[in-house]
Amino acid sequence: MEAADKRRFRGAVLEWYDQHGRKLPWRESADPYRIWLSEVMLQQTTVAAVVPYFERFTARFPDVQSLATADVDEVLRLWEGLGYYSRARNLHRASQAVVSEHLGQFPSEVEVLRTLPGIGRYTAGAISSFAFDQPAAIVEANTERLYARLLALRDDVRSTASQKLLWQFAEELVPDKRAGDFNQALMDIGS
Ligand code: ADE
Repeated sequence: MEAADKRRFRGAVLEWYDQHGRKLPWRESADPYRIWLSEVMLQQTTVAAVVPYFERFTARFPDVQSLATADVDEVLRLWEGLGYYSRARNLHRASQAVVSEHLGQFPSEVEVLRTLPGIGRYTAGAISSFAFDQPAAIVEANTERLYARLLALRDDVRSTASQKLLWQFAEELVPDKRAGDFNQALMDIGS
């Protein structure tokens, strides 16, 4: 895409988001703990199903320290019904790594975030851009759908070649400023 087209696209996306972006509980805060928790819950689970779990979980464990010192059985009980329980175990492990290896502060860089249990390329980009406003790219189901159409992609979006193309496109488009809002907007438009 030409530089002028990119600028226009970014401007239009952000303007749309200011007017029509969904108001969601984890968007009301730039706390990386809350953003991380919501993104892990949203893996394989819908927004509507996640909201009550997110509220209960943050009421019981308001920060990474309280989660790190919790009994894993209590974490699993709060997760009951969300499924994919390895997510809850990794969440607990990652909270302990943040406390013991990062002085209780979430790292902001994608490469460092990816060293934490349960945090892959997408989740690292989401935390880095939503919580720290770093120009980190994301590709997940919604952005995939949107970018595949913009690129007129004919191949299966899950193929290695398509994924490479989609991530390249995402890296190219993500703006230096308001990267978090831009990424959230793409998810809303895609969904
Ligand atoms: N799906 C995954 N992450 C999301 C987010 N932050 N907002 C809306 N839908 C999502």
